[in-house]
Parts: sequence; structure tokens; C-alpha cells
Amino acid sequence: MAKPQKRYVCQQCGSVSSKWAGQCGDCGEWNTLVEDGGAVVTPFQAKHNLQSGGRAITLSGLDTDIPLPDRMATGIAELDRALGGGFVTGSATLIGGDPGIGKSTLLLQAAAKLAQAGRSVAYVSGEEASDQVRLRARRLGLGNAPVQLAAATSVRDILTTLGAGAPPALLVIDSIQTMHSDLIEGAPGTVSQVRASAQELIRFAKERGTSLVLVGHVTKDGTIAGPRVLEHMVDTVLAFEGERSHQYRILRAVKNRFGGTDEIGVFAMAGEGLKEVANPSSLFLTSRDESVSGTVVFPALEGTRPVLVEVQALTVRLASGATPRRAVVGWDSGRLAMILAVLEARCGLSFSTSEVYLNIAGGYRVQDPAADLAVAAALVSALSERPVPTDAVAFGEVALSGEIRPVAHGNLRLREAGKLGFGRALVPSALAQEKGAVQLSGFAGLPGFVDHMLARG
Ligand code: TYD
Ligand code: MG
Repeated sequence: MAKPQKRYVCQQCGSVSSKWAGQCGDCGEWNTLVEDGGAVVTPFQAKHNLQSGGRAITLSGLDTDIPLPDRMATGIAELDRALGGGFVTGSATLIGGDPGIGKSTLLLQAAAKLAQAGRSVAYVSGEEASDQVRLRARRLGLGNAPVQLAAATSVRDILTTLGAGAPPALLVIDSIQTMHSDLIEGAPGTVSQVRASAQELIRFAKERGTSLVLVGHVTKDGTIAGPRVLEHMVDTVLAFEGERSHQYRILRAVKNRFGGTDEIGVFAMAGEGLKEVANPSSLFLTSRDESVSGTVVFPALEGTRPVLVEVQALTVRLASGATPRRAVVGWDSGRLAMILAVLEARCGLSFSTSEVYLNIAGGYRVQDPAADLAVAAALVSALSERPVPTDAVAFGEVALSGEIRPVAHGNLRLREAGKLGFGRALVPSALAQEKGAVQLSGFAGLPGFVDHMLARG
């Protein structure tokens, strides 16, 4: 028999190599290769398996009578919204986020809510003792919810216990990185352990109709620790985001086999746990009584949900010939460079001797190209020291030619702005015909827009 070959798995990206090296050849991380005890299929074995095994399966057509998957709404509306209506029975959900962002808190609240509604719920913590979890539950005012708590890290123990009785409707594993499967060698948290533990838990969930929720830690570059593979194994991936220093948190579906990925849930961390935020716009707008130059409100869209955020720009003129700094928080720095270039080339404004800082208030992150016009407005306002009226919002995509293009869901954005008391909007000219409570000023190109802003005294 051939000597079993050693293999080394990168704990960062999951790539496999036959030799140990200090640096992973795939992702370039240092000191991430770890020897892995997993079985290795040689090319010969693979060929052999192909020749001898495999049966033809019957492919059948679409049956329109198949019922929709069974969903279990948690009663936490923001969580249900991100999930697309609740946890699907027999599905696996991965929830990732930075340490301390509130994953355990959210799941304990959801578990307690479901338990109070009469569902059987098991919460297994590999990070905290049962007493710690119980203390937290009491602090959240959920001390008497009939949730089954366990502190355990052995997947075999967990499944043996749960398999003996009726399976729970919801099983929370906090976190998958602390779990250990004895089917495979290696310390908890390594790629192969995480994968094997997840596999066993997911199989249990699918067989017994339990909704499984795995908590996953996130590495410093924002991916769920260890394995991308984990994201492929589960049905739904949720990312819990936010700055720890800010109170708001956004729950975003990154992948959803049973629903859309364009909805978010918004929460605020308070003394008694996570509170739902039904009207997110109020959270991201700073108090706006007085007009300050460089700030503009942008109606962003999260899925089908408008969220008003404040774009802030600051320019500082440099006396010396030093290279001016450009710093961005909450937006794409490449996109800022583009808007600056268009303002310089098409509108004759010069930022070359000024430092430029751009910030989205409240720690919010904007990816929507519709923010271009709001950013341009903030930059022009900051440079010219003329405030944009406090009751105005701006949105539109800016092309390299200086053209201002229409964007998706203009109506929705305008409606939300109107609802929150904004009286006018600076928009692409294609939108200016819209009727509504908000008075519209339409612009076809950035030069005309800049003239309009500079003309106002
Ligand atoms: P936690 O849910 O433990 O985070 P994670 O599981 O993602 O690591 O939440 C940790 C933070 O939340 C902690 O720093 C304290 C804070 N917190 C509150 O502000 N209020 C609360 O009611 C609770 C339970 C936690
Ligand atoms: Mg936790």
C-alpha cells in the first residue's frame, strides 16, 4: 500500500499543497499552512471510482405543486426581513461578524423569542459557560424563556444528546470555530475541523428538519474565518456589520438559497440588547438645524429600502507644494478620485492644492453609484464654503463625460426624503418630471450642476 501522503491546508484560504511552506502560494498569507489528516484521493483512485461506481439518476421536470419551504418567523422583524421571512426548516444559516458585534446577543434574543412562542430551541455555546449565557439572558430580560442551554464543543456529544429525543426546531451553535469533530484529526478552528463539524451538524439538520444556525468568526480582512468552504456548505449566509463604537448594526444577507440577498435588517445595540430600528434614516442623519458647508443628504437604497445618510466632505487648502491627502470613510476611494477628476476636467474646479476628506456619517458604508451627485455636491460645497440647503437631498450617477445619469428607484428615494421632511431634491434631469411632495431640480450635466451650486449666495 502506498504511504499516505501528507497534505497541508492553508487556514486562510483553504488551498491544499503537498509541501509545507512559510507562505501560502495562493493567498500569500504567512504561517497559515497546517498539516491536515484528511483523506487524499489520488488520480488513480479517482479514475477507478469513476469506472466502477455511479448509477444513472432520473432527472424529472419542474413540479409546480411543490409547496414553498416551511419558514419559522422569529418575531424579530428586522431579522426575519434579512432572512426573507424567517428560518427555513431543515436549512443551515451561517452568521458572521466581528467579535463583539452582537452575534450571540442577537441569536439569544431570537432563540428566546421562538422558545416563548412554543418552539423547542437549543443554544449550544462553545465560548461561554451556560451560566454566562443564562446571565446574559437575564440581562436581556429573557431569563425565563424555555431555551435549552448547553456549553459543549464536541459535535458527537451534541448530536448524541439531541438525537436521543425529538429534534429541536432551532439549533444555535456559537461558534463553529470552537466545535470539534472526532471523525478527523486537528485542533478546533482549523479548516478541516470546521468543515467536518459543519458537515455533521448540517447533515443532522437536513435529516431531522432542524433549522441550524452557525456563528462564524470573521478574520481581520472581513471574511468568515478559515473557510470559504463553509459559505458553500450552508444555505444562507448573513453578515452582521457595523462599527463597534457606533450603536447601530446592519444584518445583511450575503447568500440566500431561499430568498433575495437585497434586504437588510437594522438594529441598535442598547443596554438591554439589540433593538430593532424600523426607521433607519433617523439613525444616520446627524442633527441638522444649521446648514454647514460640505454636508449633503443622500437617499441610499438597501435592497428595496431607502435609508437617508449624510455625506460629509472637508477640503483643506495646503500652503506648501506637498502632495495633498485624500481620505475616505464609508465610500470607495477610487470613485472619489473619479468624481474629483470629473470636477477638475469638466467643471474647472481645482482640488490639486487641497486635501480632501470624505465621510459617510454614522459609520454607514455606501456602494450605490447614485451617491456620485451627493458626493460631488458635498465636495463643491466644501470647496466653495457654500452650504447646501438643509432641506435638500441629492442623488444621481456621474459619468466620466460629466453627464448626470438617472439611477434605479428614484421614486422610492424621493418618497422617503419627503416622508422625513425634505422639501427639495437635486436629481438627474430625466427624473425632474416626477410629481410628488418634493420639489425637484433636474440637471443633465455636472457643469450645469456646479454653476447652480456656485450661483446660490
Ligand atoms: P456579543 O453578542 O457577545 O458579541 P459577539 O457574539 O458577536 O462576539 O455582544 C458583545 C457586545 O455587546 C459587548 O461588548 C457588550 C454589548 N452588549 C450591550 O451593549 N448590551 C447588551 O444588552 C448586551 C447583551 C451586550
Ligand atoms: Mg459571541
